[in-house]
Amino acid sequence: MLSKKQARAFFLGGTFVTFIIFIGLTIYSLSPGNDQTNEENLSAEVVRGKEIWESNNCMGCHTLLGEGAYYAPELTKVIDRRGAGYIKAVLMSPVSWQPNGRKMVAYAMTEGEANDVVAFFEWIGEIDLNGFGEVVGVDRKISPLAKDKINN
Ligand code: HEC
Repeated sequence: MLSKKQARAFFLGGTFVTFIIFIGLTIYSLSPGNDQTNEENLSAEVVRGKEIWESNNCMGCHTLLGEGAYYAPELTKVIDRRGAGYIKAVLMSPVSWQPNGRKMVAYAMTEGEANDVVAFFEWIGEIDLNGFGEVVGVDRKISPLAKDKINN
């Protein structure tokens, strides 16, 4: 058993050590060399694309950075996976895009709107996510079950 004095010293020492570690990690996270965003590349197009993304509730079906709903494909790395041309075709299509069975909303976007959304996806795709999306991503490949369901 610790005496009262020892318990206090133990508590204060532990608090001090974890506080120092916490401060150290905070400085490490905020140092410019460890900045993983690409905030400097935010353009007016990207911002408009994000507004389109939000006002149409794309997250009601899709995920971005893993956040959102799981009805439709993860889109963080969609640019790498599909390329701008494919994405524009999906967004500008006047009929539902559904090569894999589930229906994407037919937004029939103008070319300008589609370009804004593509700019937004390009920007998102350039964030350094320590590999997220490249490995887990969509990906129908990671779930044989989902793949079977979609293909049948
Ligand atoms: C009602 C659900 C729903 C909403 C809302 C929705 N989508 Fe989709 N979307 C889908 C589905 C389902 C697919 C997959 C279609 C397929 O491959 O058969 C898809 C496919 C896509 C693809 C192609 C992805 C790929 O990997 O092939 C893009 C890009 C996309 N959607 C963008 C958007 C954007 C941008 C919005 C908002 C403006 C949006 N979606 C809103 C359901 C939705």
